[in-house]
Amino acid sequence: MRLDKMIASTGIASRSQIASAVKGGRVLVGGVAVRRADVQVDPDVAEVVYCGTPVVYRKFTYIMLNKPEGYVSATEDGKLPTVIDLLPPELGKIGLFPCGRLDKNTLGLMLLTNDGDTSHRLLAPKSHVAKTYAFSLKFPFSDADIAALEAGVDIGGYITAPCTVERTGEREGKITLTEGKYHQIKLMMEAVHNQVTYLERVRFGPLTLDRALSRGEWRYLSDSEITLLHKKDS
Ligand code: URA
Repeated sequence: MRLDKMIASTGIASRSQIASAVKGGRVLVGGVAVRRADVQVDPDVAEVVYCGTPVVYRKFTYIMLNKPEGYVSATEDGKLPTVIDLLPPELGKIGLFPCGRLDKNTLGLMLLTNDGDTSHRLLAPKSHVAKTYAFSLKFPFSDADIAALEAGVDIGGYITAPCTVERTGEREGKITLTEGKYHQIKLMMEAVHNQVTYLERVRFGPLTLDRALSRGEWRYLSDSEITLLHKKDS
């Protein structure tokens, strides 16, 4: 693989930044400055350092984002900012897309990747991947409401699958779903005559929202998180 392609695929820099770093002798392969950006390297074994930063090549990139309000879960939108706009420009060019959707005003854990197969598996209805959301409601809710939500409610002709609801306050709780219909939680709360005023995803399959990330911040998944994500029962 070409050296510049390998470095650019990690999202660390653009091809033009890499070209000028190579010219300036700031890209090392095996400890030696290279003079051409198009030299061939084996990405799995080459020890590449870009401007002092070791480049770890991975076929795919996985990013955890703490989604803020007002951003749409898409790669492009005619009017509104997308979650991709929260990444540095170099990372906007490696084919990342959001794994699943959160509503514009929903906050929290969003996985971004360019690994289509893994994303497809995590989102497939038959995978039953668990997603946990913290919520606040407009009105207090009862234990009967919890029982109804857990058993399944009618959201416009569809009866939701069994789920779990944990109370954390008079109007607050956590709900764990293993399916993902459009506006599902908002519609479920409406089915019990209530209204969502706050919704934040705190867990997606084996991933837990990293509280060190402020709203709008992101980080690469760790090796152990990637391993968990690839487990077939995640
Ligand atoms: N349910 C909703 O209503 N909205 C979301 O963003 C996610 C789940």
